[in-house]
Amino acid sequence: MKVLLLGVALGLLYAGQGEAQLLLVPFSGEWKTHYIAASNKDKITEDGPFHIYVRHVQFHPNDTADIDFYIKSDGECVKQHVTGVRQKKLVYDVEYAGQNEVEILRFSLNTIIGHIHNVDEEGKETDMVALIGKSEQISKRDFRKFKKQASDKGIPEENIVNFTDNDDCPEE
Ligand SMILES: *[C@@H]1O[C@H](CO)[C@@H](O)[C@H](O)[C@H]1NC(C)=O
Ligand SMILES: *[C@@H]1O[C@H](CO)[C@@H](O)[C@H](O)[C@H]1NC(C)=O
Repeated sequence: MKVLLLGVALGLLYAGQGEAQLLLVPFSGEWKTHYIAASNKDKITEDGPFHIYVRHVQFHPNDTADIDFYIKSDGECVKQHVTGVRQKKLVYDVEYAGQNEVEILRFSLNTIIGHIHNVDEEGKETDMVALIGKSEQISKRDFRKFKKQASDKGIPEENIVNFTDNDDCPEE
């Protein structure tokens, strides 16, 4: 597993753009949200557009990625689907609650840390860092890496929302 991961990481360093995309395809599958930090916390608290419970991420070989997730609206789980279009190596453009640039900062076979820069319909900008995982538990080490990325983006620690235990949306 470690050797495979190292191969993937090295591959990404040296691969051209198209090849980098192909290498992401195996990371497709069931994912769940563990933590999101945001410069504007109201974007990620309940009823906010980024109070997101991820279910499935599919990386396609044609430079697109599909994400299925739920948000909470007035206590109800509302199903959402977005498609990202890759604009450079590990950066996707996504239209959702405004315009987003989503950059994959770190990934392994069971965690992805991403940075989202959102410009909403009113032109308000928000930086977010999200940690999604393949399993129920996140290691302390991965959580530290997530916290470091959030603080590097200037997001205060009190603006972290822990999604691990409050997910009561359908499993599928
Ligand atoms: C990319 O591939 C996916 C899966 O085959 C397909 O659903 C989607 O329509 C394609 N998108 C574009 C822009 O070609
Ligand atoms: C997040 O919530 C889970 C489940 O309640 C808990 O086990 C974990 O320690 C929490 N994380 C932090 C950093 O407090």
